[in-house]
Amino acid sequence: MSEVKFYSGESVPLEMHKVRIVQKLHLVPIEQRHAAITEAGNNTFLLKNRDIFLDMLTDSGVNAMSDRQQAAMMVADDSYAGSETFYRLEAKIREIFGTRYFLPAHQGRACENLLSQVLVRPGTIVPTNYHFTTTKAHITLNGGTVEEIFTSDALEVTSDKPFKGDMDLEKLRALIAEQGAERIAFVRCEAGTNLIGGQPVSLQNMRDVGRICREHGILAVLDASLLADNLYFNKIREPECREMSLREITRAVADQYDLIYFSARKLGCARGGGICMNSEDLYKTIREKITLYEGFLTYGGMSVREIEAITVGLEETMDMDMVSQGPQFIRFMVEELARKGVPVITPPGGLGCHIDARAFLSHVPQTEYPAGALGSALYLVGGVRGMERGTLSEQRNPDGSEKLADMELLRLALPRRVFTMSQVKYAVDRIVWLYENRHLVGGLRFVEEPSILRFFFGRLVPTSDWQEALVAKFRADLGDSL
Ligand code: F0G
Repeated sequence: MSEVKFYSGESVPLEMHKVRIVQKLHLVPIEQRHAAITEAGNNTFLLKNRDIFLDMLTDSGVNAMSDRQQAAMMVADDSYAGSETFYRLEAKIREIFGTRYFLPAHQGRACENLLSQVLVRPGTIVPTNYHFTTTKAHITLNGGTVEEIFTSDALEVTSDKPFKGDMDLEKLRALIAEQGAERIAFVRCEAGTNLIGGQPVSLQNMRDVGRICREHGILAVLDASLLADNLYFNKIREPECREMSLREITRAVADQYDLIYFSARKLGCARGGGICMNSEDLYKTIREKITLYEGFLTYGGMSVREIEAITVGLEETMDMDMVSQGPQFIRFMVEELARKGVPVITPPGGLGCHIDARAFLSHVPQTEYPAGALGSALYLVGGVRGMERGTLSEQRNPDGSEKLADMELLRLALPRRVFTMSQVKYAVDRIVWLYENRHLVGGLRFVEEPSILRFFFGRLVPTSDWQEALVAKFRADLGDSL
């Protein structure tokens, strides 16, 4: 993808695919969007697709599938036990990761549930480069605690550090010395990271962490849900990887871990998940839970059609044209916004473009959820649905006080191969308009707050009539435009 130069000198990510199936979109007028976001309790998760123009909520389960994936779905072998479809996926996983055993699960958090039940005991600790919402919820539910050991660069909004997802090796060593290896349930590396802007982890850091784990007999676990983006960044940002194929990088990554799990809603561009490992003992222990919670060992809660799509999707992830598309579109969006002064996370990462809501809405206190308010405001002015990744996505402290997030981000995911360049430009245009009118945007407060994973279905209201003011300004500036 990056090989194609434009004679004009313009830097444009060029698609290495053509679009042959399309879905009609709806852009409803701003007054209708105001009614929709109000009905949704200002929570973008609760909007209905019919009211959304560009759905940048997530890349989960919504990446575009290839013709080969769709074709493979037609030859799936539907049987409760012993399906050929499962053995095709098992063989592909073995080929790509080099791991001996594979257990299927219905999605990423199902893997986290099983791992936490098997490995986390009350009082144990899980060091990680950064937590993910569902991962932390499962570890906490089983009595463990998550210790984040990111480097000092990780939370810097503007940076030129290529691998802000790296784990801090000194902090990891200190934690092991202080707590003792036996209190550590496992060390978890998320590559790439989700909540800190899709920032990648270097292969070198994975090697170093793997070595420390082996020295102390601690289990090393990789959350590979966002590995496709991470592989792209290893290849283009890490000198050691420049001459390696994606297949070689993948194997080098996998060799550092005792266990790898993933959401196939992201990795493999389908819907499902799974756990890969070499230890027979661990395999046998987790296996029992699969049949209890997921389904039989040869489908694990997934449809066989999806399993076929994952097998092909994993093979396609070994193609640089395929893994480049997401990060290159994200870089385009990040650079356009940064050029116009909008505070965004840099360097551009994977998964999506991340707006720094704390800087964007510096007048909105963190207790009034600036990233949530920005998500509500962007839907209102553009019909663009993002996801809050800030304080709303945290769980309250045990004493009920707010756990203020390290970063207040509005994530605008770019599911792979889904959006066109003009749609990205439209999103940029509305974000820039909103930035110029940011003083009109106020905060949010809860009217219905679930006790766990509250961001999924909590309901909020604006702290003032700021949304009415925004609608009036939109009409004044853009006339009768949708
Ligand atoms: N790990 C990571 C790094 C993830 O990003 C996700 C999901 C999961 C685990 C859980 O997987 O959804 O299949 O159960 N991330 C989605 C997102 C929800 O929108 O970022 P799942």
